Amino acid sequence: MDKSAALTGLIGTELPILLAPMAGASTPELAAAVSNAGGLGALGSAMMSAADLRRETEAVRALTNKSFNLNFFVHHEPDVAGYDAKPMQKALSGYFGELGLGEVPPPSVPAPAFNEEMLELLLELRPRVASFHFGLPSPAIVERLKDAGMAVIGSATTAAEARALESGGADAVIAQGHEAGGHRGTFLDHVDLGTVGTMALVPQVVDVVRVPVIAAGGIGDARGVAAAFMLGAAGVQLGTAYLACPEAKVHPVHRKALAEASDHSTVVTKIFSGRPARAIRNRLTEEMRWHEDAAAPFPAQRPMIAPLTSAGAKTGRPVIFGKPVKGDEQQVVRHRSDGVVDFAVIKNLVVDFVREHDQIVFAGDFQHFLQQRLVADAGSVPRHCVRLRHAWPS
Ligand SMILES: Cc1cc2nc3c(=O)[nH]c(=O)nc-3n(C[C@H](O)[C@H](O)[C@H](O)COP(=O)(O)O)c2cc1C
Repeated sequence: MDKSAALTGLIGTELPILLAPMAGASTPELAAAVSNAGGLGALGSAMMSAADLRRETEAVRALTNKSFNLNFFVHHEPDVAGYDAKPMQKALSGYFGELGLGEVPPPSVPAPAFNEEMLELLLELRPRVASFHFGLPSPAIVERLKDAGMAVIGSATTAAEARALESGGADAVIAQGHEAGGHRGTFLDHVDLGTVGTMALVPQVVDVVRVPVIAAGGIGDARGVAAAFMLGAAGVQLGTAYLACPEAKVHPVHRKALAEASDHSTVVTKIFSGRPARAIRNRLTEEMRWHEDAAAPFPAQRPMIAPLTSAGAKTGRPVIFGKPVKGDEQQVVRHRSDGVVDFAVIKNLVVDFVREHDQIVFAGDFQHFLQQRLVADAGSVPRHCVRLRHAWPS
């Protein structure tokens, strides 16, 4: 069986394309639209209460009977009591003053890490896929999830992390390159490490694990998908590209910033949450660069800066996770002024990724493709594939 078929069999989709779970930006409409279009929809559930998670999962199920993914964070709970907040509060106070927001709040934990309550709920909700960021739950918990019929997936930012996920029971591994929008999933090394780019990371991960590898980070169109498959990935996970879809929960100010962003518009910063995350560069990220080491431990930094980020959106000064959608952005940015969910947009986005299907299949499973397509039907294959066939040892 080829790797992509193994992956789609595992996650229960037609296509090896996964919507990245994006805490804060996910919606049931986006998840269901991607699932209905043949990919794997997802809810970034990490910051949700149990009641919200239940409600949003029911909403996904009302919109699709296809597979979807629920995603959680498994970081260590921070020691907020042992953290001196004063330097960070001092660094942020000027902005709070400028926007009339009063005192900088103290650090606090806005949502717990994946815990017993969420585990029980997850076992009850039983999505087809449960995925985790910042590591995996214990092997015993992973077994329980698998026994309940879920496929378990985790994110790796190094080959060593991929190996650790596989030996911890992961059914598939996401190789998250440094290009990725949102948080780095790094969990073995210090959080500031794990900066390998997608192009270098994917083949190294493919070489060290037996489970299917899903490439993530900087993939935004069919060329990116083809490249990931060429590197040995069995599937791709895309986040930022989907932020442009009307179903994503993205403030209009942030949508504008994304649409206007270019290749050098992002930065990896700890100032929003306490862990490195790729965000759009702005005055805050630039000026706070010198205070990153004073950030509260993840995720306790978030409530300290939250009043600024929401005021930033209101006043038109965007503060956003993600990186620019490049190249084919016109194909994905199709806004509907009436606010109606436009499933056709998602469909087109997914279809666009598989438009060059021959190339992708070819790249994903060279030998299989040679046997099935090139040798059987050489007349119908793209020229570049035929050229490569000649280079393949007989
Ligand atoms: C806004 C945003 C939020 C994200 N939130 C999560 C999350 O909650 N859980 C997770 O596993 N990954 C999260 N990610 C990372 C994605 O899983 C994925 O690695 C990344 O989006 C891939 O890179 P790309 O954005 O260039 O496509 C997030 C990414 C973005 C852009």
